[in-house]
Amino acid sequence: MKQFEEIFRDNASWVAAKLAHDPQYFDKLSRGQSPEILYIGCADSRVTAEDLMGAEPGEIFVHRNVANLVVATDNNINAVVQYAVEQLAVKHIVICGHYECGGVKASMQQSDLGQLNSWLQSIRDVYRIHRGELDAIHEHRERFDRLVELNVLEQCLNIVKIDHVQRAWYRTGFPQIHGWVFDVRTGRLIDLELKIEDEFESIRKIYDLGPID
Ligand code: CO
Repeated sequence: MKQFEEIFRDNASWVAAKLAHDPQYFDKLSRGQSPEILYIGCADSRVTAEDLMGAEPGEIFVHRNVANLVVATDNNINAVVQYAVEQLAVKHIVICGHYECGGVKASMQQSDLGQLNSWLQSIRDVYRIHRGELDAIHEHRERFDRLVELNVLEQCLNIVKIDHVQRAWYRTGFPQIHGWVFDVRTGRLIDLELKIEDEFESIRKIYDLGPID
C-alpha cells in the first residue's frame, strides 16, 4: 500500500503535470461543472470510474456504492439522481456493474453479513425475478456473471421508477439510460445494449407515476 506521504507527493506531481499542460487548468475547473453523464458504479477499488473511461475531471458525475444499487429508500442515490437530472441536466445515466463483484457474490451465498444483509437483499430480489434463467445456468461463474448483468438491468429499471427521471423523460426525452459491465479480467468495458425505454414499456402500467404537469 502507498504511504500517505507518497499520496501527497503524487498529488503535487499531478498538479504540476496539469499546470505544465495548461496553466489555467484549475482556474477553469473552479468555475463549475457541466458533465453530461451520471455514472453509478460499484465502490470496488478495482473499478475506478474515471480511469477506466479515460475521463478527465469535470466530465462525469459519479456515484458509487456496494454493487451499484439503486434503492428506492436510499436518500443518497435519490439526491444524486435529482441533482444530476434537474440541476446538471445530464443527458445520460450509466449503471456500471462489474464481473467478480463481491457484493453480487455474497448475495449468492447463505451468509449473515450484518448491515450488508439488507443492502444485498436487493440483489437476492434480482435473482428471484430472473430465477428461471439463472437456475438453468449450471456453471457457477457463468451464473455469477449473468447475475451481475441482470443486476445492472434491474438497477437501470430502478432509475426509471424515480419520479425525477420520469419527469425529465416526459419533458425532454432525456436522460438516456445505459447498462454497462466492466470486465476486471480483461479491463474491457462492455455495453449490454439494453433497450431500457422498451423494457420500461412492458412494466409501465405498474411504475408510471402518471401525467406530469
Ligand atoms: Co462490486
